[in-house]
Amino acid sequence: MLRDRVVVVGVSGGIAAYKACELVRRLRDRGATVIVVMTPAAQEFVGALTFQALSGNPVVTHMWGDQKQRFTLPLESRPKQRGHVEHVDVAEIADVFVIAPATADVIARMVHGVAPDALTAIALATRAPMVVAPAMDLQMWRAAATQDNMRTLRARGATVVGPASGALASGLAGPGRLAEIDDIVAAVDRAVARTHSLRGQHVVVSAGATQEPIDPVRVLTNRSSGKMGFAIAEAARDRGAKVTLLAGHTSIEPPHGVAVVRFGTALELQAAAQRAVKGAAMVIMAAAVGDYRVAKVAAQKLKRSGDDLTLRLTPNPDVLAALGAKKAKGQLLVGFALETQNALANARKKLSAKRADLIVLNTPQDGIGGDTNVVTLVDADMSVQLPRASKREVAEAILDRASDLRGATGAKRATRKQRA
Ligand code: CTP
Repeated sequence: MLRDRVVVVGVSGGIAAYKACELVRRLRDRGATVIVVMTPAAQEFVGALTFQALSGNPVVTHMWGDQKQRFTLPLESRPKQRGHVEHVDVAEIADVFVIAPATADVIARMVHGVAPDALTAIALATRAPMVVAPAMDLQMWRAAATQDNMRTLRARGATVVGPASGALASGLAGPGRLAEIDDIVAAVDRAVARTHSLRGQHVVVSAGATQEPIDPVRVLTNRSSGKMGFAIAEAARDRGAKVTLLAGHTSIEPPHGVAVVRFGTALELQAAAQRAVKGAAMVIMAAAVGDYRVAKVAAQKLKRSGDDLTLRLTPNPDVLAALGAKKAKGQLLVGFALETQNALANARKKLSAKRADLIVLNTPQDGIGGDTNVVTLVDADMSVQLPRASKREVAEAILDRASDLRGATGAKRATRKQRA
């Protein structure tokens, strides 16, 4: 599973640092190439020599490494090792960056982009997925600052494992212990599997609100922030996909590294979607599309009068349903359903009426436009309610399920072909 993968293990200065020795061994047992990076504080707890022996590679303890030291790397990672600036090299080579144990201080520095040592510099420079296993005293874990920092890390896409609960070195008991090594290894496996899961595939995501003009200065719109769709685009990008993001009106900037196509109205979205979906492996319609537009847009600004104003609205096309009707073989279509009543039944109706493969059912328990979401994933076989999670975590779960369904469709086709 981890053969030919470079796992960089960042060890920061906590009592649990010794447990990282076992983690390194386990990762190597699974075939990974391991490079250990230690903060100066970590070296107070465990000697670099121990990690060098266990990993079979030089240990990075300084920002500007010894150029004579060379890592033993899988073939495909070698060209990336330039050997001039060690922390940049290591950041580039990493397939996954695990920080275990992650102290409250290292977590705070990672969140704020403060990088005085090799570990935090790599955290800042790497594009690899991060697995963070916090370990600290109970009160430090519970501190509002740490909890805010954890939320930020999660929202940026890091996988957080633990902490586990139990007796702590301080004599207190509660959450703060480093997670079980098995759980950290499993998170590394998942992160690696995800990173390459959409490599080279085209994923189209729509996000944000439509704006239907009333006159040259006024629009009909909705409260969608675009955050959910942007998180999906970002997560797909990080899995190696080529992403086209159809972006309507949003409250935030689109992620970098994706092709952005802007739309205003539902008709513009429809035209952009029809162009973009050709050859796409997945199409995810997270946009909040206005069901109606103003039948006759006023050419000049409407003037106020004392009388009631009546606007005649005409229905917009259902973009998702149109895509469903013309869905190409092997293309996976995901829709959203925002429901305030009979949620599950309505989501199922949308699944079949729009010929989608997966519906993300959203009941606005957390309001609209926040950073967390409570959703249920509904497909033809089952419905799974996810716990409240950051939009990035929800995005990962949607892509996991969509990938599973796509795999299953491919497998079904292959079996049918075999039978034929
Ligand atoms: N959608 C679409 N075109 C529309 C309306 C919705 O493509 N004109 C898509 C949305 O992007 C979403 C899904 O359809 O993926 C469901 O959107 P939602 O607003 O929940 O449902 P509607 O189809 O508009 O149905 P209703 O408003 O009656 O609940």
